[in-house]
Amino acid sequence: MKAQRLLLGWVAAGLVAWAAVAAENPPAPKQDAPPKLSVLRCGRLLDVRTGSLKEGALVVVRGDRIEGVLDRGAKIPEGAAVIDLSAYTVLPGLVDAHTHTFLQPGDYDVQLLKQSLPRRTLQAAAQARALLLAGFTTIRDLETEGAMYGDADLRDAIADGIVPGPRMQVATRAISTTGNYALLGYAHEVTVPKGVQIADGPWEIRKAVREQIQNGADWLKFYGDYRTFTPTGEILDLRVTMTQEEMDALVDEAGRRHRPVSAHCYSDDAARQEIITERDTPNGRLLHLARPITVRTEACLTCHSTAENAPPALTRTYGTVNGFGWHLNETIGAQILSVPMALPLKVARDAFVTSLIILVLIFTLVVVVVNLLMHFLVVTPIKRVSALADAVSLGQEDVEPYIKPGKDEVSSLSISFNRMRESLKHAMEMIK
Ligand code: HEC
Repeated sequence: MKAQRLLLGWVAAGLVAWAAVAAENPPAPKQDAPPKLSVLRCGRLLDVRTGSLKEGALVVVRGDRIEGVLDRGAKIPEGAAVIDLSAYTVLPGLVDAHTHTFLQPGDYDVQLLKQSLPRRTLQAAAQARALLLAGFTTIRDLETEGAMYGDADLRDAIADGIVPGPRMQVATRAISTTGNYALLGYAHEVTVPKGVQIADGPWEIRKAVREQIQNGADWLKFYGDYRTFTPTGEILDLRVTMTQEEMDALVDEAGRRHRPVSAHCYSDDAARQEIITERDTPNGRLLHLARPITVRTEACLTCHSTAENAPPALTRTYGTVNGFGWHLNETIGAQILSVPMALPLKVARDAFVTSLIILVLIFTLVVVVVNLLMHFLVVTPIKRVSALADAVSLGQEDVEPYIKPGKDEVSSLSISFNRMRESLKHAMEMIK
C-alpha cells in the first residue's frame, strides 16, 4: 500500500494508545538523525475508505508519517519498534473542526470574571488531553472566549511535547463589532472582559486581523450575527453584526496572509447574503462563492411541502424523511462553490472575445448596408443626373429624360433638373 500522508495518531481504545502516541510525540528528532521506524500491530484496523475492518493489520510509521499498511503476517521491516495493539481496534485519528478548549461547562460570566488566564489555560490543557484520549488527533479550536492568545500557546506546548494533546489549529480571540458580543447585565460604567475582540469599520477590523495573526492565529473567526435571549430562552434579538464592507475587509486581510476565515452564523439574515471571495492558496488562486438557497416559488412546494403531497415516485426513491416541511421564502440551504480562479477568468476572457467579434461583425454589416444604400439611393441616381447634365450642356438634345421616383432630395433634384432641361430645350427652340 503506498505511503499515505495521513497524520500520525492512530488511536486504540484507552491509554495504551495514548502511551503509543506519547512515545511518538516528544521532541522532534534532529534533522540529520534518520526518522524513527515503528510498526503498530493492530487487533483490527478500520479502513475508513471502505468501512471494513482489517484483522491483524500492521501500520508502518516512519517519523511522523504513516508509510503504509501491511496485511497480517507480513514481514516487519528491519529495525522497527513494534507497538502491540493486538488487543484493540485501531482507527485513524479523528478531527473535530469546532472546539473551545478554553470554555468549560457552567457559568460563562464566572469563567471570564473570576478565573485567571493561567487557570483557564490549565483547564484547556486538561481538555486537550481528554480530546486526544477520546481519539481526536487534530482539532480546530475556534476562539478562546476571553482567554486571549492562550490557544496559540497551548498549540505550541503540545507541538513541543510539553503537554499531551491533539494537533491544534487556533482562531485566538475571534472578531465582532461593538454591541455584538458582551457580558450582559453589568452597569455601563463597569469595564468587564469580552469574549471576543471588538473592532468596527474596515480599518479597525484589518488591524485586529493583523494582531491576531501576529499572535499566532491559524484561522480568523468572526461573528456574522449575534443574538440575545429572553430569560425563558426565546430569541429576543437577532442581528447581522458587520456590513459587507467590514466582512470584505476581514476576509481580504486574512487572505493576504493566507489565513482561512470561519464565520459564526445562527440566523437566516447573516447567512442570506451572497459572499464572493478570492483567496490565494498553495494550489493557486481560488474563487469562493456561497449563496443561500431560498424557496422562491410555490412550485418548489409541490415536492417539498409534505411527504403526502409529494409525487409518489419521489417518496419511493428518496423516502419521506428529508426535504419536506419547507415554506415559501424560507432559506433552506446554501450553495457553496470553490473553483480555481483560472476558470472564471477564462470564461470572462471568452465572453470578452465573443462580444468583440460580435461588435466587429455588426460594425462591418452596418458599413456594408450603409454603402449599399448610398450606392442605390444616392450615388447611382446622381450619376445619371450628372451624365444627363453633361450631355445637355454639350448640346445633345435627344438624351432620355431621367426622373428618380420618390420624394427624397435626389428625386426632387432629378425633377428640377428635368424641368431645367425642358426650359433649356424651349429656350433653344425659341432662339431657332
Ligand atoms: C418535481 C419535484 C421537485 C420540485 C418541484 C423541486 N424539487 Fe428539490 N428535490 C427533489 C428531489 C427528488 C430531490 C432529491 C434528489 C436530489 O438531491 O437530487 C430534491 C433535492 C433538493 C435539494 C437538495 C439538493 C442536495 O444536493 O442535497 C434542494 C436544495 C432543493 N431540492 C431545492 C428545491 C427548490 C429551491 C425548488 C424550487 C425552485 C425545488 N427543489 C423543487 C424534487 C423536487
